[in-house]
Amino acid sequence: MLNIILMGPPGAGKGTQATRLVDSFHLPHISTGDMFRENIKNGTPLGLQAKAIIEAGGLVPDEVTCAMVKDRLSREDCANGFLLDGFPRTIPQAEELEKIGEELGRKVNLVIDITVPEEELIRRISGRRVCPKCGASYHIDTMKPQKEGICDRCGSEIVQRKDDNAESFRVRLENYYESTQPIADFYKEKGNYRLFDGTIGADNLFREIAKLLEEHK
Ligand code: AP5
Ligand code: MG
Repeated sequence: MLNIILMGPPGAGKGTQATRLVDSFHLPHISTGDMFRENIKNGTPLGLQAKAIIEAGGLVPDEVTCAMVKDRLSREDCANGFLLDGFPRTIPQAEELEKIGEELGRKVNLVIDITVPEEELIRRISGRRVCPKCGASYHIDTMKPQKEGICDRCGSEIVQRKDDNAESFRVRLENYYESTQPIADFYKEKGNYRLFDGTIGADNLFREIAKLLEEHK
């Protein structure tokens, strides 16, 4: 069973790897960032609550985020595995996820952390374009879609994220170092944690992670 967490700083390549992994291993892709952006687009109460926080690069409160994830993990399509992208992001979220997993009989059994130096993260984020429909990521110089402005995966128009500006990125990175990075130790103690070098190219990284997933299937 593959009940996976994908973690790493903003721009590490979580979304890029997640879309490839879920296509190959047939898992639901649960990206809390994508879920919030979908709610913002649809003007839901959750979206209205999260909009200003996300655009400024802050973290949505734990209670709100955990309730959203619990609801998503309860669905039938998560019974045979799932891939969480961008959750948990704080120690309280990691603790809550343990409880949710216990309750639903869907405990996380593999944590994949991607590390990339800060200068490279800035370069990636400043040129990123994303697909608002399927969550695929592109880069204006290094990962162009086959047809300019159009997502290879689902044919939608790709856009720049509102929080992909220098100011919000700085806040996201600070939150990452302060709140998210400590989660690595939480999982290292449990013995199901693996760290990957995120600078080896998206194809090479995918091969390395896929190899690990094959062993865990
Ligand atoms: P979220 O959407 O999760 O954003 P993030 O964590 O900041 O991460 P990114 O999506 O920016 O980066 P990524 O690692 O997916 O990189 P990507 O693959 O796109 O969250 C957004 C916001 O929502 C948060 O700031 C917060 O406000 C809120 N939120 C979400 N979850 C929350 C939670 N649990 N609790 C509270 N609040 C929450 O790649 C980046 C770029 O690099 C692309 O251009 C790509 O083409 C390129 N690239 C990717 N891989 C490579 C590679 N190997 N080599 C070269 N270039 C590459
Ligand atoms: Mg992402």
